[in-house]
Amino acid sequence: MYICNEYQKKAANMSASPDTLVTGASGLIGRWLVPLLTRRGHTVLVPLRGARARAAEYLAWTAGHGGDTERLVFDELDLSRDDLGLTTSVAGIRDVFHLAGRYQFGMSVEEARSTNVEGSLRALRLAAQAPQLRRFTSIGGYRVADPRALRAAGEITSDEAARRRLYKRLGAYEASKVEENVALRAEARRLAVPISVVNPSTVIGDSGTGETTQFIGLTEAIRDLAKGALPALVEPMAFVPVVTVDYLAQLLAGVPEHADGPETSYWVLDEKTPLMGDLLRHVARRLGVKVPRLTLPVRLVAALPRALTRVEPETLSFLSTDTYDTAGADALARKLSLTAPDTLRALDRWVDFLVSVDFGRRG
Ligand SMILES: NC(=O)c1ccc[n+]([C@@H]2O[C@H](COP(=O)([O-])OP(=O)(O)OC[C@H]3O[C@@H](n4cnc5c(N)ncnc54)[C@H](OP(=O)(O)O)[C@@H]3O)[C@@H](O)[C@H]2O)c1
Repeated sequence: MYICNEYQKKAANMSASPDTLVTGASGLIGRWLVPLLTRRGHTVLVPLRGARARAAEYLAWTAGHGGDTERLVFDELDLSRDDLGLTTSVAGIRDVFHLAGRYQFGMSVEEARSTNVEGSLRALRLAAQAPQLRRFTSIGGYRVADPRALRAAGEITSDEAARRRLYKRLGAYEASKVEENVALRAEARRLAVPISVVNPSTVIGDSGTGETTQFIGLTEAIRDLAKGALPALVEPMAFVPVVTVDYLAQLLAGVPEHADGPETSYWVLDEKTPLMGDLLRHVARRLGVKVPRLTLPVRLVAALPRALTRVEPETLSFLSTDTYDTAGADALARKLSLTAPDTLRALDRWVDFLVSVDFGRRG
């Protein structure tokens, strides 16, 4: 435990222990979840890589986003260790939110698996040691929660050739998240740990301010559109749903109290998101730029060299016309009296924010 403020001095002296553990607290989703949890009276253990150097920035972020900094306890995070590198006891932990993960494209299989599969299993096994644990909640992804993908992945934990095929077909990020989903749920059953997997679509900025800390995926297409560098629309009929980070954080925070059963999952996405072509047309109007007239089928783009298309091949599988069963998340939202924000207004605020920081180039 690192002593970073007066409350933590007091907490250390009184041996007060945190009740909630959030890994990945420094990521986009964690930065909205942690302030919210502290506002609701939770004392949150925030393990970070290099915590000593980063605690001050994190305290300032939490204060700036309405959180209670006196309810943060910092520690180190090392997902390659069975104890995750923690020096703080997990004796008082009731809820674990495991958000740490490598969310990026172009990784090697080993890079993706070591964090997203092996690191996640370590986090679950550590959670299982907390005597007061109520629930382990992790984040999957809306594409990886597809029952067909999960069925196909069912065999990969024991069959090396099947695993190689899955990673080749989906790319390292998505395959590692599919494998993580299957492996975590199997291990949770073995350890009798209640588990929930929340599967969000593309997470966009705060519905009120548009603010985000992440600039990959859909952001890159919007950046290219803004700069007149988007050569063509790929699969304009694709449904690439979005969800605002604040709405997602509110749903996540409600999972441990309201999850119904030992193993639950939730598809969290805004069904009112316009289809890809309409979404880009809407954004283009906001930006005052033209949408490319040329449309290309995904298959053709996948077959062309990357140098020509400038499209990350791993992102093409997101350009799908599939729809998703959001009934579980909708029921949870009703229990929490949560109303989804207006999609187009949220998109506009996010786009304005992206422009104001030059798509992540300006802080
Ligand atoms: N954002 C989305 O659109 C989206 C959609 C679906 C699913 N998800 C999933 O949601 C989870 C959280 O995503 P996010 O959007 O918050 O991602 P993010 O902004 O990229 O943050 C990733 C977090 O994981 C931590 N992390 C990464 N590798 C680590 C490692 N080897 N050891 C310890 N910590 C590590 C990062 O810590 P550092 O600050 O130290 O790097 C950071 O706190 C991920 O599992 C992601 O796959 C995200």
